[in-house]
Amino acid sequence: MRKVEFIDIPNLEKARLRKHNADTIFFSFNPSKEALIYFKNKKYFIRTYGCQSNIRDEETMSGILDKLGMIKTYNENEADVAILNTCAVRENAEDKVFGQIGDFKKIKEQNKKLILLICGCMIEQKHIIDKILSTFPYVDIMFGTHNIKDLVLLLSNYIDNNIRYVDVSSYEGDIIEDLPVKRLETYKAFVNITYGCNNFCSYCIVPYTRGKERSRSEEEILKECEELVKKGYKEITLLGQNVDAYGKDLKNGSTFARLLDKVASLNVPRVRFLTSYPSDFKDEVIDVIAKHSNIMKFIHLPVQSGSNSILKTMNRRYTREEYLELVNKIKNKIPSMEFSTDIIVGFPNESYEEFLDTVSLAREVHYTSAFTFIYSPRVGTPAAKMKDNVTYEEKVKRFKELVKELEIDFNFYAQRMVGNTYEVLVEEVSKKNKNLLSGYTENNKVVHFKGDKSLIGNIVKVKILENHLYSLIGEIVNE
Ligand code: SAH
Ligand code: SF4
Ligand code: F3S
Repeated sequence: MRKVEFIDIPNLEKARLRKHNADTIFFSFNPSKEALIYFKNKKYFIRTYGCQSNIRDEETMSGILDKLGMIKTYNENEADVAILNTCAVRENAEDKVFGQIGDFKKIKEQNKKLILLICGCMIEQKHIIDKILSTFPYVDIMFGTHNIKDLVLLLSNYIDNNIRYVDVSSYEGDIIEDLPVKRLETYKAFVNITYGCNNFCSYCIVPYTRGKERSRSEEEILKECEELVKKGYKEITLLGQNVDAYGKDLKNGSTFARLLDKVASLNVPRVRFLTSYPSDFKDEVIDVIAKHSNIMKFIHLPVQSGSNSILKTMNRRYTREEYLELVNKIKNKIPSMEFSTDIIVGFPNESYEEFLDTVSLAREVHYTSAFTFIYSPRVGTPAAKMKDNVTYEEKVKRFKELVKELEIDFNFYAQRMVGNTYEVLVEEVSKKNKNLLSGYTENNKVVHFKGDKSLIGNIVKVKILENHLYSLIGEIVNE
């Protein structure tokens, strides 16, 4: 067995603390001469699971490794450094990663010099580290979401000493500015506005894996957005686990409404934001959305459940009635607004009646899209300790029933688009059909249509011809 050096190990108690103010630290890049020589022109591979926070982290890691003189590859078989950037939100997300680590056994046997690193939210859990250390002896380095800034140091230590490293800090977290970035896209970008989460929904692991809710300064956010605008980006998405909490910790008058107003005032065609927390959503934000035509009229507003008793045990701080009131208030001010949501089915002890409350809420809101999940217990969260009287088979049954109900609205709203023309930001050659391009409408519907590859990154007008429920077929309209 190879020696393991534990620089830091995760601890749930520490991860739960919310005592200190976040410090802002400016990243400094000072690799050793040996590391610069060793890694120059070597290839790195990153596979990312999970949410946009993780995608944005991949961009930071790519930026750091590029600075080290490395070259990105999309083929794990030719990599000298491979990173799996993981998600812990549900068990199936973790299972996928374990499968992928298993697949690396062969690759590592063929390329003994490959350095295999695992990072991201899964690694913020002690039991996962123990499992990887004992089951996958060929994993070389594990580092946490707070330790990305130390990536080069970890790699240098590894080539010097050839021992395994675990560097996973559990603490409230800092704000690290001036991190290098290599963006995955040239036309749409994610910009972090807050990190972490203080909500502690009883089922959720995120507040433990990402630390406390902390806001970047308006100045740094606007600087990043201005640079994107200069480079010709067409869409900026402001990111936070709860964007509406932006500014609370800064105590200098910064609010999400003011920030959104400033970002939308930059010359960028599309602005989006993720994720909104219902009871923190302020009237001022509705006014800012109404004021700017470049803020997309589409809100992702996770409800999780339509039952007040379940919302209470989930530790969500709003009722069904308050949620519906908010949706109606937004619809009254902005009639074209469309909503999507996240829903968890089969929370511990959810009765069938409570489940039906979720169905009826969904049908009242008329979501145009939604992400639905079967509850997955997460070690260390309060919900995971609850006894559960609902069988898995019953949860699957309810899940299917909910999806069927939601699809009635999805279909209605998608069908209503047929025959009309929409602006579409062209993203890529369609994955399913190489002869088609695909992109998103302002209301976040994916459309496939014929067109030249050179259109990628542009906004074009597309007339919708066919509705396929989860996607649309259209044709470019030349004016
Ligand atoms: N901060 C965002 C996103 C959090 S994770 C928010 O609050 O909406 C994305 C979604 O995963 C959540 O909205 C929730 O619906 C789902 N989720 C989180 N923990 C889960 C769990 N233990 N089991 C099933 N779904 C879960
Ligand atoms: Fe998780 Fe709730 Fe925070 Fe979202 S708001 S990240 S669901 S704890
Ligand atoms: Fe997953 Fe972590 Fe995001 S748990 S959903 S990658 S914050």
